[in-house]
Amino acid sequence: MRKNLVATGVALALGVGAVTTAFAQAKPDVLVAQRQAAMKLQSKYLGPIGGMLKGNIPYDADIVARNATFLENLARMPWDGFEPSTSALKSAAKPEIYKDVAKFKAAAETLEAETSKLGAAARAKDQAGVKATFGGVAKACGSCHDSFRVKQ
Ligand code: HEC
Repeated sequence: MRKNLVATGVALALGVGAVTTAFAQAKPDVLVAQRQAAMKLQSKYLGPIGGMLKGNIPYDADIVARNATFLENLARMPWDGFEPSTSALKSAAKPEIYKDVAKFKAAAETLEAETSKLGAAARAKDQAGVKATFGGVAKACGSCHDSFRVKQ
């Protein structure tokens, strides 16, 4: 049993290594699909928190804590998908992303900081804190989209 666990652990570790290597050579179209998927999942987990704060859905502190924690992690995922190698592909990413790299990075970091505040409040089951920090997250999404995403 113990032996099997060790073997599984080694296999998992190797698997992770393989993914990392593959990622370094990821094709541009794969990077676009992955970053768009991360963006979609952010909406998936942010939306219900907004609905609960508005009173459209009954407030559930456990779901808020889970969603906010997912969001905190997801908010760190899309950025390495915005590689210059993807700039020629069709997507809603504006070319400014690759021209004003510092501004795009700052917008990403703002989201990371705001989702950390929301995550901390949500895990503390602090509903007032969730309410106070939610707007900063939504604003971080919106202001980056205003500058760097083609209007839908
Ligand atoms: C730093 C900039 C930035 C931030 C912050 C940001 N986005 Fe995005 N988002 C983009 C860009 C650029 C695209 C277009 C990506 C593409 O088409 O490849 C996008 C696309 C999307 C899409 C469409 C994905 C698809 O193709 O189906 C959704 C949904 C989305 N974002 C949700 C969010 C949410 C929710 C947040 C906040 C929690 C957020 N985004 C924060 C830049 C950002």
